[in-house]
Amino acid sequence: MASHHHRFYSLLLTVISLTTSRSWAQASARSVNWAKRLDSGSGPDTITNIQFYFHDIFTGNHPTATRVVHPVPGFSHTTFFGAVVMADDPLTESADPSSKVVGRAQGMYAAAGRSEVSLLMSMSYGFTDGDYDGSSLSIVGRNRALDPTRELPVLGGTGVFRMARGYAVINTVTANARGDAVVHYNVTVYAPRL
Ligand SMILES: *[C@@H]1O[C@H](CO)[C@@H](O)[C@H](O)[C@H]1NC(C)=O
Repeated sequence: MASHHHRFYSLLLTVISLTTSRSWAQASARSVNWAKRLDSGSGPDTITNIQFYFHDIFTGNHPTATRVVHPVPGFSHTTFFGAVVMADDPLTESADPSSKVVGRAQGMYAAAGRSEVSLLMSMSYGFTDGDYDGSSLSIVGRNRALDPTRELPVLGGTGVFRMARGYAVINTVTANARGDAVVHYNVTVYAPRL
């Protein structure tokens, strides 16, 4: 009888420790396809590679981005200098807009270049999936949006990304003349093991 109880409780403890495990190096129930821990589990920082697709949509029935300030006169057909966009953009697992939503990018960007399309991005990327649900990254920096590849700095984060630093390499996947764009993000994040 005692040994049955013992077996029951050790099984229960195993189940509890498996379901509360936050070790992303192992395949836990809450691990995700779009983010992978790269570090070995020792060292001062955790290193995570995160990949998602950002959908910045101005058109259609459900726009996620809207221009809130118009460009300075004389720049509306060139660099849009002075324009400000507010966005609440879904982040998905693949380039397909109907693929799994893993978070949202909320914030704004402003056209800060007079003679080139250069955006100052100031956005919070809040995740809603798996081990990253409730955690966020703050990305602030220059985005020369017409370049095929750009790099933006990760200035911080919350949740599992508290005190984070890192960088995002981004590539436009599709874009149209009305401003709709799908952008691939490949983010490398270092966060201290707190
Ligand atoms: C993502 O970024 C990492 C680190 O910079 C790089 O090693 C990897 O090849 C990139 N992957 C893709 C799909 O761009």
